[in-house]
Amino acid sequence: MSVKVLITAGPTYEAIDVVRGITNRSSGKMGYAVAQAALELGAEVTLVSGPTALAKPQGVKTIDVTSALGMFEAVKRHMDGTDIFIGVAAVADYRPINPSEQKLKKNSGNLTLELTPNPDILAYVAKLPKPPFCVGFAAESEKLREHAEAKRKAKNIPLLAANLAQDAIGSDENKLVLFDDAGEHVLPRANKLTLARQLMQHVLKLYRQGAKQ
Ligand code: CTP
Repeated sequence: MSVKVLITAGPTYEAIDVVRGITNRSSGKMGYAVAQAALELGAEVTLVSGPTALAKPQGVKTIDVTSALGMFEAVKRHMDGTDIFIGVAAVADYRPINPSEQKLKKNSGNLTLELTPNPDILAYVAKLPKPPFCVGFAAESEKLREHAEAKRKAKNIPLLAANLAQDAIGSDENKLVLFDDAGEHVLPRANKLTLARQLMQHVLKLYRQGAKQ
């Protein structure tokens, strides 16, 4: 029986009005590469993707979403039977509280946007009664080790892949540091598919160790 892997990828887009929104610079390349690498290892892969310009990976079940709430719903809908969950998406932490159904008109004063927190999808999955093996990503701009270890503990996940945002954004290459119970494993700078293949080998090794216990 093949291992079932659910992956989130790309940015999310949080509407301000019908034509404007808040998003981020995630291209989706890393998440799509992870989906490809998981497929190559024989997994059954579902990819929940925010808006990207990338071609859908063949052989992967891809679900397109726009906002963090849409991503959360899609993850919940496709969670059943998932063995491994990998959150690669750069989910917006906040969304505008009342997106306008009409285009907002400018005036001469300041404009204040009220934002409300989005659900943390990875933390939700990790807290399920029978959680899958959970893998998180962290993009930091500084103090990589400190922030990554804090995130791994806060979300209570066995494995976190960290990178420096300035190494990754918009690039076909990246450098990852994996944090798990055994410590730290550096995956030196390489293209994202090479890194994704190394990451998936590590994920499967830990997953199988856990499954044997
Ligand atoms: N994540 C998620 N849902 C969210 C926010 C993040 O699933 N609403 C996941 C990401 O896919 C990634 C990890 O959590 O795997 C990132 O952790 P997080 O602490 O949220 O990172 P940042 O949002 O970058 O945190 P901060 O802005 O505080 O650095």
